[in-house]
Amino acid sequence: MAKFLVKNSVPLKGEVTISGSKNAVLPIMAAALLTDETCSIMDVPKLKDVDVMCNILSRVGANVQEDYKNNQVFIQTNKIMEYEAPYALVKRMRASVLLMGPLLARAGRARMPLPGGCAIGARPIDLHLKGFSALGAKIVENKGYGYVEAIAEDGLKGCNLYLDFPSVGATENIIMAAVLAKGTTVIENVAEEPEIVDLANFLNKMGAKIKGAGTDTIKIEGVEKLFGARHNVIPDRIETGTFMVAAAITRGNLLIKNALPDHVKPVIAKLKECGVEIEDTFDGLWVRGDLRPLIATDIKTLPYPGFPTDMQSIFMAFLATAEGKSNVIETVFENRFMHVAELERMGAKIETEDRKATITGPAPLSGAKVLATDLRAGAAVVLAGLVAEGVTEVSEVYHIERGYEDFIEKFRSIGARIERVEEKINDL
Ligand code: EPZ
Repeated sequence: MAKFLVKNSVPLKGEVTISGSKNAVLPIMAAALLTDETCSIMDVPKLKDVDVMCNILSRVGANVQEDYKNNQVFIQTNKIMEYEAPYALVKRMRASVLLMGPLLARAGRARMPLPGGCAIGARPIDLHLKGFSALGAKIVENKGYGYVEAIAEDGLKGCNLYLDFPSVGATENIIMAAVLAKGTTVIENVAEEPEIVDLANFLNKMGAKIKGAGTDTIKIEGVEKLFGARHNVIPDRIETGTFMVAAAITRGNLLIKNALPDHVKPVIAKLKECGVEIEDTFDGLWVRGDLRPLIATDIKTLPYPGFPTDMQSIFMAFLATAEGKSNVIETVFENRFMHVAELERMGAKIETEDRKATITGPAPLSGAKVLATDLRAGAAVVLAGLVAEGVTEVSEVYHIERGYEDFIEKFRSIGARIERVEEKINDL
């Protein structure tokens, strides 16, 4: 097992280029199953999660060519050979559930091991199944064997559906099931994330007829067949936010290239409230945390376009160093404060009550042995380590490597003192 050693680092300075979005590329790769023609996907980030998705697609019958050097993946599926993703792969990546929609649409059947919960919550898939059922699929839950199946051997039929919660994954899965359904589907109260828009753009290039992506209502006219397409994945807005906060917490000065400011509006607004200078220029997003004392603010996570839950832990690490008292409320996941204990071990002053955390800063942070409890919490403790006295040892870094391309290299290129070492047994 690897770990990161993070040392107190000078204010970060220089420029960093954002990679393709993990949460956009995963559903787009799954959507490639919907055609027997080749889909060429560009700006694909080199991530463990992408590897797992390539592996799963191959197992269900796709011919997958990864051209990692050029950040490209080519997917061509003559025939679906399996309608179930192997458990060993599903348990490694919750996004495997995104195969259900395409498998159901293309093969009339999809079976998924019930996805286990994870550190941040139970992560049920009831809304996904509600959507498939509304489209005419029969849902069979076999809790004994731990799997759920959606069956629609006569094909799917368009429907009108209201999502109880604007779930990102459920929205994506239902769109992918509905594009080949007979008739029209209208889904209300859908997720509005940029990743939904990117998926819809890709599907429309394949010949789908989707309107309204990015709003709270999506309308889909089912079509007979979809065709191969080429697509460049949007930049990763959470990686963008991570480097913006890295400039703030280290009181640094970064130029973030290939970022889409429109996708990180809440993060820009909140960092400005704290006194960070942000300028959108032709070359990229300038973020300066070195111009004035940085102060506390309040955060409440919400579905897009609200403040992203994926930025909550990362922003909290920064708030531990800002002057004053900050309140953070997590409304999206029921258990997304696992990073609090890790930040407290480093000296952060944080009180939590249910889904609310109160952070009192600035607290002098000291290096400690900490865990990456999830992908974003891992990034949070690394950022804290950049400004902590001494060395911070971050374990379980596979979480981080799942979702950030060239994480170590990018941070070292802007002055971070961070290295990846193998964890010796007696360290455990
Ligand atoms: C996506 O997860 C992202 N993952 C998550 O990013 C992100 O945190 C989340 O959206 C919210 O923005 C990918 O896109 C691969 P949800 P997803 O369905 O689709 C509840 C990261 O760090 N819910 O919008 O699983 C659920 O329990 C990851 O990159 C149901 O109750 O999120 C949660 O409380 C972490 N029933 C809330 O909705 C359902 O059927 C939001 O979940 C589905 C979801």
